[in-house]
Amino acid sequence: MEDKKEKSLYIETYGCQMNVADSEIVGSIMSKDGYSTSEKAEDADIIFINTCSIRDNAEKKIRKRLKEIKIMKKKNPNLKVGILGCMAERLKQQLLDEEDAVDLIVGPDAYRELPQLIKTVESGRRAINVLLSEEETYEEIEPVRIGSNKISAYIAIMRGCENFCTYCVVPFTRGKERSRDPQTIIEEAKNLFNKGYREVTLLGQNVNSYDYSSEGINISFPDLVAKVAAISPLLRVRFSTSHPKDISDELIKTIAKTPNICRAIHLPFQSGRNEVLKRMNRKYTREWYMDRISMIKKHIPDCGLSTDIIAGFCGETEEEHLQTLDLIEWVGYDYAYMFKYSERPNTIAQKKFEDDIPEEVKGRRLQEIIDLQRKLALSSNLKNIGETTEVLVESLSKRSDNDFSGRNSQNKTVIFPKENYKIGDYVQVKILECTAATLIGKAVQKG
Ligand code: SAH
Ligand code: SF4
Ligand code: F3S
Repeated sequence: MEDKKEKSLYIETYGCQMNVADSEIVGSIMSKDGYSTSEKAEDADIIFINTCSIRDNAEKKIRKRLKEIKIMKKKNPNLKVGILGCMAERLKQQLLDEEDAVDLIVGPDAYRELPQLIKTVESGRRAINVLLSEEETYEEIEPVRIGSNKISAYIAIMRGCENFCTYCVVPFTRGKERSRDPQTIIEEAKNLFNKGYREVTLLGQNVNSYDYSSEGINISFPDLVAKVAAISPLLRVRFSTSHPKDISDELIKTIAKTPNICRAIHLPFQSGRNEVLKRMNRKYTREWYMDRISMIKKHIPDCGLSTDIIAGFCGETEEEHLQTLDLIEWVGYDYAYMFKYSERPNTIAQKKFEDDIPEEVKGRRLQEIIDLQRKLALSSNLKNIGETTEVLVESLSKRSDNDFSGRNSQNKTVIFPKENYKIGDYVQVKILECTAATLIGKAVQKG
């Protein structure tokens, strides 16, 4: 047989956790076709860029990166470049026309075709496949964990989104919602646990609408989380993202009674005012959202809470903005992802409403949200001083090789001196000080 040199692939990932999980699926598909994943773009025969379209600046970042890659291609004419993910799906052929450094465009549901498409590209032609599917969940593909700490991993449990929030591109780039076979999810989590992983995060755009039916069995999201948590009490289970309209009492109670389902819920509210929520087509009210938070606080009093917020959506008045600040304060989040509204082509909002909030007003409102959230995060962390919390050790601290970094169940980052502990251990840490972003402590003996 001819001696064939293994080719190397470098995957660069932008955007959400779902894209991280997708890159690992792509790595797996490509490795079966004889490609190894390389740590450095400079060493690779192929570069895949897994892209995000959620905001204009996400796409701008990728356009900029493509300029650098064009220079790399001049030095290495054999280098091939593929654009995957949401930007590939949104722009399709247009991206091939505009970016001459790009050889290949592949949408999120067409990754199984990659080996075939690469053959076309290697023969010197350009290739594109952006077909969306109603069934694809890549369910039996075991992802290759890229750049992993070998302790925590993502597991995609569903794909797509049909909520059509008016500002959002995801329903257009990711297609119809579909749930993955629970058996394959549980197998993947078991395999990870047996390899030494101690935390899995179940991913979907709206995990609460996970719903799998086959041959008379029906599995809902609370059933699924409970099954994954039953693998071992030493396996932490997280999930993201919950949509406020669907977060059920059953899920909240399942978390409350299962210690290894983490006490952390990410519940994006976007805006604190009903009129804005209506324009956004979020399908819940401020009152409903507050009721959900109250339910969480009642059943899981120590629950960490985080959210997503958009500042300056179409027509947002000063009063509406103040209502957003008011809701942030009422909930008292531990963490928030905060964004300026960015109009996306062909979304419902782009067609229906005017993007009429001036840039400087959006900027000022965002800053007020950030300042308030920083204050709340600090006061939440200050409350933990003197408490002892269980930390899963994930890595060395970024600041010092003498310290470990990990997270507690509430998803707060905790830093403490290494002593004789190792990555993957659960350690009881007493919190001594904090910043708005981190808890700092010292390991204590149990008991
Ligand atoms: N499926 C998840 C979130 C997906 S996108 C959910 O519904 O909660 C992550 C976040 O990006 C959103 O929650 C929203 O806050 C933000 N986002 C989405 N589209 C945006 C846009 N056009 N401009 C600014 N932020 C946006
Ligand atoms: Fe976008 Fe809304 Fe779907 Fe989240 S739920 S992905 S914000 S459309
Ligand atoms: Fe971005 Fe697509 Fe995720 S638009 S946020 S990569 S689903």
